[in-house]
Amino acid sequence: MTTDPQTHSQPDPAQDHLLAKGLCRPLHLYYFADTHLQQVADNDPLLSDAWKENPVPNLPCSNSTLLASHLDRAVTGGADIILCGGDLFHFPSAENVALALRLFGACPRPVWCVPGNHDWFYPGQDGWEDLRASMLPRLEKIYRGQASYWSRSVQGLRVIALDNSTYFLDTEQVSFLDRELAEDVPTVVMMHIPLSTPALRDATVAKHGQAILMADAAGRTRAGIDPGPTRHAAGLLRDSAQVLAVLSAHVHFPFQEDITPGKPQLIPEAGYRHGYRWIVVE
Ligand SMILES: [Fe+2]
Ligand SMILES: [Fe+2]
Repeated sequence: MTTDPQTHSQPDPAQDHLLAKGLCRPLHLYYFADTHLQQVADNDPLLSDAWKENPVPNLPCSNSTLLASHLDRAVTGGADIILCGGDLFHFPSAENVALALRLFGACPRPVWCVPGNHDWFYPGQDGWEDLRASMLPRLEKIYRGQASYWSRSVQGLRVIALDNSTYFLDTEQVSFLDRELAEDVPTVVMMHIPLSTPALRDATVAKHGQAILMADAAGRTRAGIDPGPTRHAAGLLRDSAQVLAVLSAHVHFPFQEDITPGKPQLIPEAGYRHGYRWIVVE
């Protein structure tokens, strides 16, 4: 794996430390998100001319160099597991998927991913749940066939992923979360869109003009979607003694705020700006 030396000139963010009982040994998680990779064929029929004329975000280096630099930093730094919190891609092109699978396949550490909103739509496309359902099959191998929710264990730590990339969770996802959290296992939960908390809400509105957050007090609604399961999940995440932390992304700035006292939500700087977090569970 090659790495652009420039990507190592970024100051290392401080490590986040989570305390867990019963781990076999300390675990090192490399967490990144929002790389917004843009590998695509010029003649891709879904890529609009408007976006090609003004590609946003503008990546600082090649797609391959950007993703390889994250994986290289993770492996060099001793990551047990690499977690990607969504918006790995800016759109679900076959070339993006092939690039990620090639680099993930060459990486000696597992890379576990959850969808972000950009992973499943092209700029200019409209739609939410239906569009996601139609596009996610393109990304099946990235999520190992389990995009909506999954739970995996590493050395006594449970990692739960929830796809909340439409801002909502459904009853099946929340039943899954309920069942998982009934078991006494230290857990981190990864989901792309952050749970709304007061200071994060202020910072998000200041940057984006609106609270692009999950279970926000302003009550995002969508016709045909019951917000009840999402609100229930937010309560579970806040109240469950099993949950050590929530890892989220989407807002493109680094942030940390407790969702309940002593339980942080951790957000990295955007991955396309070489942002990441080191999380040590011990
Ligand atoms: Fe993003
Ligand atoms: Fe996003």
